[in-house]
Amino acid sequence: MQLPTVAVPAELPTERLILRPWRDADRDAFAALNADRVVMEFFASTLSRAASDASIDAWQKQFEQRGWSNWAVELQATGQFIGFVGLSVPVRVLPFTPCVEIGWRLARSAWGQGYATEAAREALRFGFGTLQLEEIVSFTAVVNARSRAVMERIGMHDAHEDFEHPGVSEGSPLRLHCLYRLSRRQWKENGGGGHRPPPHAPQASV
Ligand SMILES: CC(C)(COP(=O)(O)OP(=O)(O)OC[C@H]1O[C@@H](n2cnc3c(N)ncnc32)[C@H](O)[C@@H]1OP(=O)(O)O)[C@@H](O)C(=O)NCCC(=O)NCCS
Repeated sequence: MQLPTVAVPAELPTERLILRPWRDADRDAFAALNADRVVMEFFASTLSRAASDASIDAWQKQFEQRGWSNWAVELQATGQFIGFVGLSVPVRVLPFTPCVEIGWRLARSAWGQGYATEAAREALRFGFGTLQLEEIVSFTAVVNARSRAVMERIGMHDAHEDFEHPGVSEGSPLRLHCLYRLSRRQWKENGGGGHRPPPHAPQASV
């Protein structure tokens, strides 16, 4: 799959948030949310500090290489780091790969305020508007109702292509996953997330 790139790592402001590349100063707060059992309820386990840092390392590299990845999300009002929302390319082979996936993980203190939905709408605008992707997917454990609600709020459709996630042990209630899809055509028909142009109007190249 040929991935589009933008020359300058994208930084995307929204009404209340900034989606930005990662800083080393985010590492402590990200490790804390990855160690929270409630945040990680639908994952096989919480993440060690090393695993949390490795995620940031990988995403920092992707920002350098192609200009987009999972963004660190910060509250405009206070500068507080609250988690990530962004676009990624699953490495594992799944029934619908290759694809670009939208995903999110926020600190518990940031739940219930519409931040994930606000950031995800901006990430879709970037993916479809700037990168001109044909389709963006999202998937999660079938039982992860909060994540599915974000998918539905941003206009994604349950593809009814549930699958057993090979990375989750057999018999686990987290193994059955659902897949949501959204095409650029559907996104445009839904209004394309509004008419605000991207902040730096970055031009994607393939
Ligand atoms: C998935 C996750 C990001 C969803 O967080 P969330 O807070 O439920 O979702 P949003 O940020 O979109 O907030 C929506 C809620 O804020 C409320 N809200 C409050 N103020 C709001 C505002 N100004 N604008 C919009 N919504 C607002 C909404 O009514 C909604 O409430 P509800 O949950 O009672 O229906 C969060 O639960 C999480 O990080 N989970 C752990 C990680 C995870 O599972 N990730 C997915 C793995 S695939």
